[in-house]
Order: sequence, then structure tokens, then C-alpha cells
Amino acid sequence: MNFLMKKVAFVLLFAVFCFYTIAVSLSYEDRAAWKDDSNMEKVINSLIKEMTLEEKIGQLTLYTSDWDVTGPTMRSNYQEDIRGGKVGSIFNAYTAKYNCDLQKIAVEETRLHIPLLFGYDVIHGHRTIFPISLGESCSWDLSAIEKSARIAAIEASAEGIHWTFAPMVDIARDPRWGRISEGSGEDTYLGTLIARARVKGFQGKDLSAADSVLACAKHYCAYGGAQSGRDYNTVDISCRELWSTYLPPFKGALDEGVCTFMSAFNELDGVPCTGNKYLLTDLLRDKWEFKGFVVSDYTSINEMLNHGIVADEKEAALLAFKAGLDMDMEGALYYKYLPELVKEGKVSVQEIDTSVRRILEMKYRKGLFTDPYKYCDEKREKDYVMLSEYRNTARDVAKKSIVLLKNENQLLPLKKDIKTLALIGPLADDQKNLMGSWCAAGDWTKAVSVMEGIKSKVSSSTEILYEKGCDITGSDKRGFEKAVEVANKSDVVVVVVGESADMSGEAASRSCLDLPGVQKELLMELKKTGKPIVMVLMNGRPLTISWEEENMNSILETWFLGTETGNAIGDVLFGDYNPSGKLTVTFPRSVGQIPLYYNMKNTGRPMDLQNKYTSKYLDIPNTPLYPFGYGLSYTTFEYSSISLDKKEIGLNDTLNVTITVKNTGKFDGEEVLQLYIRDLVGSVTRPVKELRGFKKVNIPAGKSETVTFEITAKDLAFYRRDMSYGVEKGDFKVFVGTNSSDVKEAEFRLTESGIIGEYSVTAPTANRSAIASRYSGGFLSNLTQRLQPESFYIEC
Ligand code: NOJ
Repeated sequence: MNFLMKKVAFVLLFAVFCFYTIAVSLSYEDRAAWKDDSNMEKVINSLIKEMTLEEKIGQLTLYTSDWDVTGPTMRSNYQEDIRGGKVGSIFNAYTAKYNCDLQKIAVEETRLHIPLLFGYDVIHGHRTIFPISLGESCSWDLSAIEKSARIAAIEASAEGIHWTFAPMVDIARDPRWGRISEGSGEDTYLGTLIARARVKGFQGKDLSAADSVLACAKHYCAYGGAQSGRDYNTVDISCRELWSTYLPPFKGALDEGVCTFMSAFNELDGVPCTGNKYLLTDLLRDKWEFKGFVVSDYTSINEMLNHGIVADEKEAALLAFKAGLDMDMEGALYYKYLPELVKEGKVSVQEIDTSVRRILEMKYRKGLFTDPYKYCDEKREKDYVMLSEYRNTARDVAKKSIVLLKNENQLLPLKKDIKTLALIGPLADDQKNLMGSWCAAGDWTKAVSVMEGIKSKVSSSTEILYEKGCDITGSDKRGFEKAVEVANKSDVVVVVVGESADMSGEAASRSCLDLPGVQKELLMELKKTGKPIVMVLMNGRPLTISWEEENMNSILETWFLGTETGNAIGDVLFGDYNPSGKLTVTFPRSVGQIPLYYNMKNTGRPMDLQNKYTSKYLDIPNTPLYPFGYGLSYTTFEYSSISLDKKEIGLNDTLNVTITVKNTGKFDGEEVLQLYIRDLVGSVTRPVKELRGFKKVNIPAGKSETVTFEITAKDLAFYRRDMSYGVEKGDFKVFVGTNSSDVKEAEFRLTESGIIGEYSVTAPTANRSAIASRYSGGFLSNLTQRLQPESFYIEC
């Protein structure tokens, strides 16, 4: 190459580099809606210069108000703390008036007039309550999910809230864990897309807009991996599992511009997440370049004493702060010990300033320095809360979240002019439980019960005979007799059973997943009447309902659908909406199968019923009761075989996977086509199936729809033996179907191996020593020990 050519090549390379850098940063800023203005740095620099150490630590402190309770209260005189500049943010406070009064104290009575930031758990709606997050995920409708978060943000911000502790993006595969209800189920691919949709919905396009709230990706990280499904329990997973299963939704939220992260209660590889430098600094700041702030979970700094990783509260504060945790939620340990730690030289003022800056920047981006009262406008509160259009959207999302699990002899939909309908069960005329476990400021008296929903559907001549039958829990069966009596008089029985709302969510693990109390016995009595029975389920997690599957005629999984529950259920029961929801979590046959999820490994001895020494149970099948992706419709869909436009692809090619689905029934209906892949041979073992695409289509009765999915190398990538993220050449299967078990399949070949950019844990061999030194100490020292050096740096 002569000199000129070299020069041209250099200029070209430089241009590509510049373009790439600008393109990446532009699109990130754009999505993030993090609009910087030139003034921000000036304002914050001058504030930081003026702040005393105590005032700075105040900004790192978050206290609950006494307006709502979401954990143990540590400080009763929070208003005095605000006055003294000792607390910079408050949570569990809402309404324009209440928050405005608190804001006035901060703005008018403190030395530097720094406004407060108000946080709250707006998880599935604020006033208008939407389905619990797990239920909503069953809609597989990203724009509906984004819309529900948007409405929640509009309502919450109108009531003085700047920041929601959502989305919860924990992947969960253990239905004993009550918090499975708060996430998007068991799948990482779908969970990541939903995390992004929720961040978009909450934050909107402009953080400083009066209807935007800061989102918070929680609980960082792997909280859903709690051993035995017991909340707050130890998590011990491999590094590969962490990266493959638990981290991607957090990265997705970050790529979407999420402004805050919350550290999880649990430990990870022996180090509590709240004091985990690898998670909070090495990964989040250095590798992922997160620019927002990290808040602890509720007193999770203090809880490091119980974890046994620190000897006293002061050490806990030091460990958390040094790990990279910016804000202490409710624990008051930064408040108590950071001043001393600075005096002793263990924490520097510059380190404090870095965290203070991150928090002040968020206050600035929210526009609070320009107008601290922007979010406490009582007129907005009146005008923008519980509008009928919000209720309509809630109804729409709710009906899309319902999953039809069984429909024997097309019992559903029911006729509206049915003569006599027996409505039975402890949840049939309930309003409170419909709100689910995080009902924020939701008013249960405004929720539509199933009773009301049914009444509004049936003809004037229909007789509804109601009996509660029994409670959700407890052993009292005195109501059985009357329930059986009304069932005997009816043409159809609708029985509404399940859990109470507080049986899932935080601190609500269960060891038995049967219907609680005597509800199953009530069903057994009703079954004896011989009447057709529709079982409507309400619950925050998969239940073990094998008996019900065998004995009930139709089953509707409705989760907790929120304010519009009764209307949405009525729409589905009477055919005004043809159910389209699909499970985002596997239903086991028995608790003994847990954890059970669709993307398991094949093992060395996959199940073979003819062969004793294979991976199976003696007493039940390996298969779930209902697989991931499962859900019926009032119509039927027939899938053609798969056609591929090529048999081989390289790193830069696209494979087109085409399939035709015919609606072979009598109703128009929506179907969620699901695409899975399997890498047949890898440098590490690969799951038997992995979701890599889906499409929800509306197909009129008798019509067909042809859908083409595109597969590129990116869809085939995984954490390889050396923890680089990439693909390995070889054979793959592609599946398309109506759920993860019922699929058509085809095969193709990837002809080249290669790295897929930014996700690698390791870099190629050239950077070995840099990686080794970066990961020495903390979480990853164990990784390097666990993997032999040769395999750690294997070439692909
Ligand atoms: C503890 C929970 O783990 C977390 O999800 C929630 O945001 C906080 N409490 C605040 O209520």
C-alpha cells in the first residue's frame, strides 16, 4: 500500500468511526429523551460548590412519607429532615396538594432551595389500575403495554410523582415466588421487549414534560432466582446464567434510556447486590456507561448486616457507597455514617459529589429547578385522573391479558340471553382483590366486579343466581349447600375462584400452589351437579390445577385485571372479545416440577419412557400442564409447514421464515405466532428452544395470513464458552407455532462463526490481561477461577 492509499484508508476509517460514535450517541440520547441543555452543568456545579457535606448527603437520602406504607418505617420526622436539607427525595407521597406542601418546605425553607424528587410504586397503574404486570405480559402486545405505562405516568405525574419504581424486569421461573406477578414471566427475549416498552411508556419522549415520570429498572439483579421461591432468599447462579437470562432486560431498559436502577435485596455469588461493586460499577457504569443514579431497595443497605457481609451499620454504608450505590432508600445509613466516613478519609468528597451530581441531574432533567411545582397542579390532577378514555384503555388491555386455558365443546362464549346463570365463588362479587398486589392510588370501590360485568352483558330476561360458596382461604364449607342449590337451578355455572391479591407480590411466597382454602372442594361439589361449569381464575402466579383442567368445562385465566376487571371478563365470557392472550409463564402440574420453564436444556439423558435411566419422574410426566406461549381462542388456527428462502446463511445474511396460518373456525380471531430457534451443537449446551420472534395477527374467520419472520446471526448469538457473545457455525432448527410445544419445524445452517458486538463479557484474546485485571476481585474473580484460563479465552 503506498502512502496515499494508507492516508485515504485512514481517513475513511476515521470517518466511519466518527459516524458510528455520533450515530450511537444520537440514537441513545434520542430514545432516552434525556435532553441536556448547556445550563445544566453550570447550575449543578455552582450548587455543588455551595453545598455543605450534610446537604450533599441529604441528596443521597430517600425517606418514605406516612401517606402509604410499603415496608418498615425508620424515620417519623421526615418533614423536619426536609427542612434541615437532610433528605433530598421522598417516596410514598402523592396528590398534588400533599406533595406541593412538602415541596414548599424544601424550596422555601431550606438554605439552597433544592426541590425534592417524589418516588412511588406505580407498577400497573396509578388511579386507573391495569392488569398486574404478569397478566399484562400475556397480551404479547407491546404497544398496549406501553400505553398502559403512559397512562400510569400521566396520572401519577398529575398527582405530584416524578419517579416510579418500575418496571420490575426480573425474569422468574419459580411460581412459588410471589413476585413473579410483578414481572413479565419466564422468558428473557419477551421480558426485554416488555421492559423497553414500559420504560418508553413511563418516561415518554421528554423527561421534563409534566406528564413524564422517571423509570427505575429493578431489582438489579437476578432477584427472581431466589432459592426455593422464598422471597429475599439467596440467589446462586452461574455467570453464564446471569448474563444469558437475568441481565438482558436490564440492558434493554438501559438502552431505552431508563433513568434509574434499584439494587436488589438478594446476594449474588456471595455478595449482596446492594454492596456489589461488580454489578453497580464495573458492569453498570464502566461497561454499560449508565449515567443515571442507583437507589437501594428498601433498607437493603442495613440488611447487609443480616447477610453477614459487614459487622455494623457504618461498614454497610461504606460497602454500599464504595460499590457504587448512590441513594439510600429509607435505611438512613448514608445520613448517619457518611459524614464520619468522609472525615476518616474512607470516602472522598469527590466520590460524594459524583453521586450528588447524578441525582441533581435527574432533578434538573425533570425541570424541577425551573419549576419545582410543575407536578403539583390541582387542576391537572382533576383533569387527568381516571378519565373515561383511560378506563377504556384499561378494559382493552385487560381483555387482551385474559388467557383461555380450556373450552370443552365450545361452551364459551355464552349466549347473552341465557335463561339462568349461577354465579358462584369468593371472587365473583369482589372488588378489592381485583386491584392486584401493587394498586398504588387505585380506589377499589371504582373497580367493576365480575357480577357487575356479567349483569351488564346479559339480557333483561336472564336470571343471575349468586352464591359466594366459601371464602378464598379458611375451611368453612357452610356455603356449599346453597351454592349447589343455585347451580342445580341454572343452565350454566360461572365460578370465580383463586387467590387473594395479597397472596402474591412482595413477601408472599407459597409452598403449595393449589387453589387455597376449600375452593377446590367447592368445585368438586359443583361438578357433581352435572351442569356445565366455566371456571374464572384470579391469581398472581401459575397455580397447580390439574384436577380443574380435567373436571371443569372451560377455564379462563384472568390474573388480577384491575379497575375494568368485570367488563373485560364480561367481554370475553359473552364473545364480544375473542380471547387472544398467551401464557408468558409455564404452568406446572405439580410443585415438585419447579423450576419448570420451556427453554430448559436437553440433558445427557433426555426423557425416554422405555428407559429407566433417563431424566424423568416416577410419578408425573415431565411436561407442564400448560406450556409457555399457550392460550386458546374461540376459533381454531391451522399452521402450514414452514418455508425457508435458503438453507444456509452467513454472518451478514437474513433468513426469511414464512408460514401461513388459516383461521378454520367460525369466529374472527387474533393469534400470536411464535418463532423459536435451537442451536443443535454449541461450545456450551444450548436450550431446547428459545423465543426469537412473535407476531400478533388478526385473522377473519375462514381467511389465512402469511407471515414472514427474519432471522439474522444476531438472533442466533449466545454467551459462548469464553463468555464472548457471538454465534457458532453449524446446524439450527427453527420452529413456528401457536405455543412453545405445538410447533412446525425446519432446519438451516449457519456457515460462519463470529462475535456479535457490545454484549460480550470478555473481549477477544488481545485484551486478555486487561480483562483479567478488571475482573480480579469481587464477583468476577470467581468467574476467572471457575473457568480454566484456556477455556476462558477459547478462540471461536
Ligand atoms: C421494596 C420492594 O422490593 C420494591 O420493589 C419497592 O419499590 C420498594 N419496596 C418501595 O416500596
